Amino acid sequence: MYCVRKVNEDYTWIGADSRRLAVFEGVFGVPDGVSYNSYLLSDEKTVLFDTVDSQVIRQFRENLMHTLNGRALDYIVVHHMEPDHTAELEDLVLRFPEVQILCSAMAKTMIGQFFGHAYDDRIRVCKEGDTLCTGKHTLQFVMAPMVHWPEVMMTYDQTDKLLLSADAFGCFGALNGRLFADEVDFDRDYLDECRRYYTNIVGKYGSQVQVVLQKAAGLEIRMILPLHGFVWRKELGYILGKHDLWSRYEPEVRGVMIAYASVYSDTECAANILACRLAEQGIKAQMFDTSVTPSSYVLSAAFRYSHLVFAAPTYNAGVFITMEELLRDIAAHGLQNRKVALLENGSWAPTSGREMQKILQGLKGWDQVEDTFTIRSALQEDQTLQLERLAAVLAKDVKTVPAAEAAEKKKQFVCKVCGYVYEGDALPEDYKCPLCGAGAEYFAEK
Ligand code: FEO
Repeated sequence: MYCVRKVNEDYTWIGADSRRLAVFEGVFGVPDGVSYNSYLLSDEKTVLFDTVDSQVIRQFRENLMHTLNGRALDYIVVHHMEPDHTAELEDLVLRFPEVQILCSAMAKTMIGQFFGHAYDDRIRVCKEGDTLCTGKHTLQFVMAPMVHWPEVMMTYDQTDKLLLSADAFGCFGALNGRLFADEVDFDRDYLDECRRYYTNIVGKYGSQVQVVLQKAAGLEIRMILPLHGFVWRKELGYILGKHDLWSRYEPEVRGVMIAYASVYSDTECAANILACRLAEQGIKAQMFDTSVTPSSYVLSAAFRYSHLVFAAPTYNAGVFITMEELLRDIAAHGLQNRKVALLENGSWAPTSGREMQKILQGLKGWDQVEDTFTIRSALQEDQTLQLERLAAVLAKDVKTVPAAEAAEKKKQFVCKVCGYVYEGDALPEDYKCPLCGAGAEYFAEK
């Protein structure tokens, strides 16, 4: 039986949720499931935008055949070749012998790699700005390389002002019947999973995301249709703003994330005392035990906070395993511009501080606020004062808003139509919203 939702008059969501997947992409736990979104445009021509993962093929087929309602499929637009969106591609090409595939040049190469070259003559390679008229709708193709694979492209529907955004602006979590972000309390219930999705999957490619955001700023966008998570039709400025922040590696919170590894709880104890001293100074802190919390969650929090503390025992003359995994993950994602403090523990030859420094030293804009704090087996009575001092240094730094950030603290004006936020001392009288085109009269100061 089909299970679909209308996006608007001509577009239908024909994807599916999965709640049985233990780990997305073989590594990221998805306790609340994940959606695989696919969209069908029913115009004079029919256009399918991406397929789904192999887990949900049966539901997808039901949805597609129901929505096609006996019509043939004319085009498949492949935005992204990762198999969670292309599992059904070969079957569709066989089922619809006339169907044309539209994709980037790199995607054509990847189709050959995944499926062979039997369908090469059905592939139409798109370049930046190419268009396809499907009757009422004109589709414009927007290249988005390395967001987060090199072949990625997006589609802008010039008629309905929709951006089909591939993996960008996606989110972990099953849709549970809701399709639009405004059908849930996104900020309360989904933002953390949206950040975890972005930071882990796309986070390394901040500069490429910035390029896409620049392109988006030049388009009038009324809806964003990603390949995972919710469709955005309201408050687009909110989700675009979050991605702007994340892709510039700017923290959302001035506060401290403390990640610790601890074999017999002595390092943990020091981390807890540090958290107490920070709390007494009014500093927001979030703590993670790296032996318990998978690194995808901790990495996401590292993107969120301005100051990071890593505490770990020495292990095999290096860093304890779970902390090393976390730090290498953070380094691989190229997180920038963080203030950091390190605590090491070692009963005879503490080296974890030095080894943690080595892993982090290549990261741009990182600054260690104090010398590494060393514990020998267990925190000693006279070290509590040193920890207090470390907390004071961190607290002072957290409270010192960088000059550039302070200068940026301008007034905010929100577009009442789409949610876009304009920042500046005053809104120009002739201002037009870059997302929806609404004039200055539609803006209200936040
Ligand atoms: Fe959802 Fe990059 O695949």
